[in-house]
Amino acid sequence: MAKGYGLNRFSAHPDALRVIGHRGAAGHAPENTLASLRKAAELGVRWVEFDVMLSGDGVPVLFHDDKLARTTNGRGWLAGHDLAALKRLDSGSWFGPRFAGEPIATLSEALVVLSELGLGANIEVKPSTGLDSETGRVVGAALKGGWPAGIPAPVISSFSTEALRTFADAAPEFSRALLVWPVPHDWRKQLDDLGCQALHCLSRRLREARAREIIAAGYALRCFTVNNPRRAQQLFKWGVDGVFSDYPDRILKIA
Ligand code: G3P
Ligand code: MG
Repeated sequence: MAKGYGLNRFSAHPDALRVIGHRGAAGHAPENTLASLRKAAELGVRWVEFDVMLSGDGVPVLFHDDKLARTTNGRGWLAGHDLAALKRLDSGSWFGPRFAGEPIATLSEALVVLSELGLGANIEVKPSTGLDSETGRVVGAALKGGWPAGIPAPVISSFSTEALRTFADAAPEFSRALLVWPVPHDWRKQLDDLGCQALHCLSRRLREARAREIIAAGYALRCFTVNNPRRAQQLFKWGVDGVFSDYPDRILKIA
């Protein structure tokens, strides 16, 4: 199977997804905000990862948790608030006063910023509990035909196999990756059943033999979250294609 580096000439080079800013550049700016995407670009990163969930009224927004409390001044469930209510929240102050007032971003706003900055993106479909099918379907429909010209085609990933399936039904043309914590014993069957070209796994639980097996089978392998450049170096030596980092600047120095 050919490696899945995306759909167009911009992402054809294997090095394109070598260093991926995690949630933008989550070590430097509030995760999953437009400020975080901008920070990643400023650090010289060419690809970012961010998480996408649905607001209560079904709009894809950049967010990681089911609940609002950790990264906003709101309370309760993300899916319990419509976009208008989410837009009134402060998604930056928790990280630092400099980011006060940073709003929750919609997926469409993020696409505009990616386009401005020339950034590639790994979009992680992150369903709120119980919303797997719907989230995959809505994000697929939002991206179908709406990907900005002039930036690399995205890689779509999810821990939710259900979301990956509904995404693929809605927008089969996008390259997909299965997210896992430890690599399951039936990794190859899962990737093939889901039509995924890549596996994204937890760095901490990955061993060399398993990494080499996956890579030799022709799949792209990327690891999260790698903030230690020595670990990144080791993974690259094993043949790992890319790493997600909160501090991509540290990894860029050795990549
Ligand atoms: O997509 C890689 C990584 O972001 C998966 O874990 O929890 O940070 O979304 P998480
Ligand atoms: Mg993520």
